[in-house]
Amino acid sequence: MKALVTGGNGFIGAHLVDLLRAEGHEVRVFDRYPNRFRPERPDVEYFVGELGNHHEVEEAVRGIDWVFHLAYNTLPQTSNDDPIHDVTSNVVATIQLLNECLKEKVRKFVFVSSGGTVYGVPQTDLISEDHTNEPICSYGITKLAIEKYLHLFQRIHGLEYVVARFSNPYGELQNPNAKQGAIGVFLGHIAREQPIAIWGDGEVVRDYIYITDAVKALLCAAQYEPKDNSSPRIFNIGSGEGHSLNQIVETIRSVVGPHVTVEYTESRSVDVPINVLDIHRAKTYLNWQPEVPLIKGVEISWNWIKSLQLAKS
Ligand SMILES: NC(=O)c1ccc[n+]([C@@H]2O[C@H](COP(=O)([O-])OP(=O)(O)OC[C@H]3O[C@@H](n4cnc5c(N)ncnc54)[C@H](O)[C@@H]3O)[C@@H](O)[C@H]2O)c1
Repeated sequence: MKALVTGGNGFIGAHLVDLLRAEGHEVRVFDRYPNRFRPERPDVEYFVGELGNHHEVEEAVRGIDWVFHLAYNTLPQTSNDDPIHDVTSNVVATIQLLNECLKEKVRKFVFVSSGGTVYGVPQTDLISEDHTNEPICSYGITKLAIEKYLHLFQRIHGLEYVVARFSNPYGELQNPNAKQGAIGVFLGHIAREQPIAIWGDGEVVRDYIYITDAVKALLCAAQYEPKDNSSPRIFNIGSGEGHSLNQIVETIRSVVGPHVTVEYTESRSVDVPINVLDIHRAKTYLNWQPEVPLIKGVEISWNWIKSLQLAKS
């Protein structure tokens, strides 16, 4: 297949590109920036462009079978600052991309949504895809709006899609200086010999999934053939297990050593107390399951972060 990965130079996109190439697919990346941690691959076609730019997107979609849509302009933590920007740069730009996909008769559109934000405050310990959707940040609302447009485009135009509601992916190539991604950010602090900063008391529980497991789910999603209109097209993608930030720190200590120190600061309004995804649907329909245990994933991530030789403070 010929695959387009929007945001293919980002953390998740770069791993997806590697997997697609390893599986023999042709890959085109559409991204506004290069990857910050590695050079371009010689066996991948790179298009530099902006999602909102109609002509650039039109060119990028030409001749494509599968579109993996990962480029996104906002983050959960800051999206409430400018909801208009969130809607125009993500929802409107994605609808433009969908129109191009229709013209090119794209076979499958895979969208990376967010299991951490589209449900809002969980009503159950384990969140299934049927849980109510009451996002408490604009980012969750725009992700959900795009999911609804995908449903609409499938119903009225027959554009096949899969939504992958990711939990918290972590691993190599995750920017340790970013505003999200607790494990990568914590390891970055340790590499710089700084204390880990935790908002709140560290009892916030999340579902962490190692990046290679997460991108395998995207490939399974592209290969998935729904039987009819009522077949599921929305899937939670996570480990299905919850770990508090304090437990993550303990896991990190067991890999890095006991010297790791933590500073606790005030909690943030966008942090729901617990978010763990029920992944049974993805296991059943996508024939997928996560394989990398947390300790192994942290070990690989730490070795990579050390190789960056971050400046010590
Ligand atoms: N990382 C997570 O914890 C997480 C969790 C759930 C969902 N997601 C979603 O997964 C997707 C990828 O996330 P990531 O962690 O790899 O992010 P990332 O920031 O590492 O990568 C995103 C890439 O998209 C590109 N991009 C952004 N806006 C663009 C635009 N308008 N035009 C062209 N390129 C643009 C960026 O240059 C970047 O290379 C996003 O849609 C994100 O919302 C991420």
